[in-house]
Amino acid sequence: MSGASRGEFSSSFGFIMAAAGSAIGLGNIWGFPTQTAQNGGAAFVILYLIMAFLVGYPILLAEFTIGRHSQSNPVGAYKSIKGGSRFVPVGFLGLFTVGLILSFYSIIAGTMVAYFISPFLSLVGANDAAAWVISQGVGANMLFASLFFFLTILIVAAGVKNGIEKWSSRLMPTLLLILVLLVIYVLTLDGAMEGLKVYLLPDFSKVLSAGLFTSALGQAFFSLSLGVGSMLVLASYTSKKENLVRLGRLVTLSDVGIAFLAGLLIIPAMYAASASGTQIFDEAGNLISGPNLIFQVLPALFNSMGSIGVALSIVFFFLMIIAALTSTISMLEVPVAYAVDNRNVARSKASIAIGVFFWAVSMTIALNFDLLFNLVVTMTTQYIQPLLGLFICIFVGWVMSRNTLIEELKQGNPEIENSFFMKIWPLFVRYVSPILILIILIQAF
Ligand code: PHE
Repeated sequence: MSGASRGEFSSSFGFIMAAAGSAIGLGNIWGFPTQTAQNGGAAFVILYLIMAFLVGYPILLAEFTIGRHSQSNPVGAYKSIKGGSRFVPVGFLGLFTVGLILSFYSIIAGTMVAYFISPFLSLVGANDAAAWVISQGVGANMLFASLFFFLTILIVAAGVKNGIEKWSSRLMPTLLLILVLLVIYVLTLDGAMEGLKVYLLPDFSKVLSAGLFTSALGQAFFSLSLGVGSMLVLASYTSKKENLVRLGRLVTLSDVGIAFLAGLLIIPAMYAASASGTQIFDEAGNLISGPNLIFQVLPALFNSMGSIGVALSIVFFFLMIIAALTSTISMLEVPVAYAVDNRNVARSKASIAIGVFFWAVSMTIALNFDLLFNLVVTMTTQYIQPLLGLFICIFVGWVMSRNTLIEELKQGNPEIENSFFMKIWPLFVRYVSPILILIILIQAF
């Protein structure tokens, strides 16, 4: 299928917003602070940064290169690049995995919507409804996850320029603004400084645990949307004039930067909540963490602040919805791109059919939440994403010819051939990243 009918970003700003929008999501604002609280504060932050730059960025650039070179989705890319035919199943695993991620992700994203509208329901006196929506019961989960699927399908069906680019470019700057304002406000609260210390001063006794490496790696993969093809597909819509090395660096830095900012918001907010009477430590004296951290501690903090708290809560959950939506569109886009490129299905039809399929998966997870939710999260993010990343390293590092890579990266970046970067990056993709992934995967089993 030709470039024009696949769709293309109209500017590098549009592409950056879409790629950063994919990367920045619940993984940054919900996952990262939660994991940091769970794993000893600053120590985890450092380990995460190492993983993001040593493993994440080289693989991100590998995905960008395959995507723009093939102008296709993961399956189409492996089919069209010399030596790639044996990797086609890896492409399909990516399509399916990203759908599973979309299925669980929409449930959490839906809860953000619930917390967003609950204050409005209270305002009109519908107190029972206000309590029901945030109950996280099966019914509420199903309702709000469905709503999220609906929005995602609508935007993906609208196409690359009028859907993904338009909405990412509107939503991402809003997100940054809201986040910075919230951080500034929270840091003025009593108790916040204590949280800041926990966040920024490492407790190195925790770094050494093996599980921490798996978590930090999984977090880096998840947060940078790696392995499953989202970045590959987005890059396939960029122009040959763009400098992929620079764009990859920008996306990695903005992703890490937003995660860091979110930590600056959430961890001090926990201590501020503690100063106003909310319990933030469990019986063992550890910070409360786990998936519910944001839903327990933050609303308690907001509640203790009267009407300004209501406003802050609405703003915060709006921020979460934006972050999640720009990520879910980049998930659904992957299998949709496959259907459009390789199966000649119209974009709108593909978006609806594939969207409805994974919506059904999502409903199954919601109906069997205790059984399935954590299982699907761990399986997809901690095991399959790194595994897919490993295959990408093998493909780009060992199968694709160096010439093809250089020719692709040279477009938009003519000096790259003899640059220091071009000496280092292939070494990372061939050795450093795959070996780190292998070690961590093996010890995880
Ligand atoms: N990176 C997104 C986040 O941090 C999640 C994501 C994973 C998006 C995989 C696309 C693909 O929330």
